[in-house]
Amino acid sequence: MAEDVLKFIARELAELKEEGLYKDIYTLESPQGAWVTIKGEKVLNFCSNNYLGFAAHQDIKKAAKEAIDKLGVGPGAVRPIAGTMIVHDQLERELAEFKGVEAALVFQSGFNANLATIPALAGRGDTIISDELNHASIIDGSRLSRAQIKVYPHNDLQGLEKNLQEVEEGRKLIITDGVFSMDGDIAPLPGIVELAEKYGAMTLVDDAHGEGVLGRNGRGIVDHFGLHGRVDVEVGTFSKAFGVMGGCVAGTANLIEYLKQRSRPFTFSSALTVPDTAATLAAVRTLARSGELVEKLWSNADYFKKKIQVLGYDTGKSETPITPVMIGDAQTASHFSRRLLEEKIFAQAIGFPLVPRGKARIRVMISATHSKEDLDYALEKFERVGKELDLL
Ligand SMILES: Cc1ncc(COP(=O)(O)O)c(C=O)c1O
Repeated sequence: MAEDVLKFIARELAELKEEGLYKDIYTLESPQGAWVTIKGEKVLNFCSNNYLGFAAHQDIKKAAKEAIDKLGVGPGAVRPIAGTMIVHDQLERELAEFKGVEAALVFQSGFNANLATIPALAGRGDTIISDELNHASIIDGSRLSRAQIKVYPHNDLQGLEKNLQEVEEGRKLIITDGVFSMDGDIAPLPGIVELAEKYGAMTLVDDAHGEGVLGRNGRGIVDHFGLHGRVDVEVGTFSKAFGVMGGCVAGTANLIEYLKQRSRPFTFSSALTVPDTAATLAAVRTLARSGELVEKLWSNADYFKKKIQVLGYDTGKSETPITPVMIGDAQTASHFSRRLLEEKIFAQAIGFPLVPRGKARIRVMISATHSKEDLDYALEKFERVGKELDLL
């Protein structure tokens, strides 16, 4: 009977709730922005990766609408069969220019970009050397590749070198997140690149949280460290600072040509929709024109981080606008988040498996859309709830 064979589902759901690891998924009744509406109430939004406010930006919405009028909505099928829409070509060209690489390729999501790229670069007999805190899409892409996977301690160059020394044959591919999404720290990319060059390894950096945030006008981690031409593959997403949906790979023209022939999500999954692609193109153009929003993002992040530390909170290793407010116990973090919502602050608790057990936190995502008054409002509520829960 279906009821019996599916019993484990109810049991596992109950366990998640008991452990405080059950994710409450809220419905937003407004566009993404500094304030959003949940259950009819306006709440201050600290949950979105909409770093620059592009998710509901006038020019970007306009670009999507105009593209729909001109080119319709859907891409028809996979690109090798149905063809590439002109807007994909434009985005790939301008994105490559923006990032200072020869070429770029658009995917349906950042997750898919990793699933596409990693197995195309490494396979049976090869070795992937991966930071222990890399994103789930890197882990899944690596598993799909059937290469041997070696995991090095987080951001530990000695650990990385030891792993590189142990590889005897096959291709070597080092993979790291650029900015780590749960802690907000930055990968030591110059050291990683040096080791890659020393041991003849390829490098792939997933810059999902670095694009629009790090580097000149948000050009990303490679630009931030001045490593142009020395990182083999940059994977990115359009769902965070670009405010839309989709993923990309940037690198040499040969790499992109190869991925068009060999990567499975490109060959077997339909292309990004027209409005998503046009909206992302408008986001890239907006950033190329001005770094103003990136500067606002950083000044907001610096302001909030300093003040919340003064209150007595630990923000871990964060070096970017991702600001974890460390709580520890998952139940307490969950309770904290619910209390914040009662105080009109939407800030999610993050627990296992997104972070190790015992390291639950409230992850505050700062945006350029927040005003100083918004941040002061939040600081006052964090202080009140922290005292109430004996955390301060
Ligand atoms: C490092 C990293 N890679 C990939 C992704 C997935 O991106 P997307 O939402 O476009 O699938 C994320 C998003 O959470 C991420 O943080």
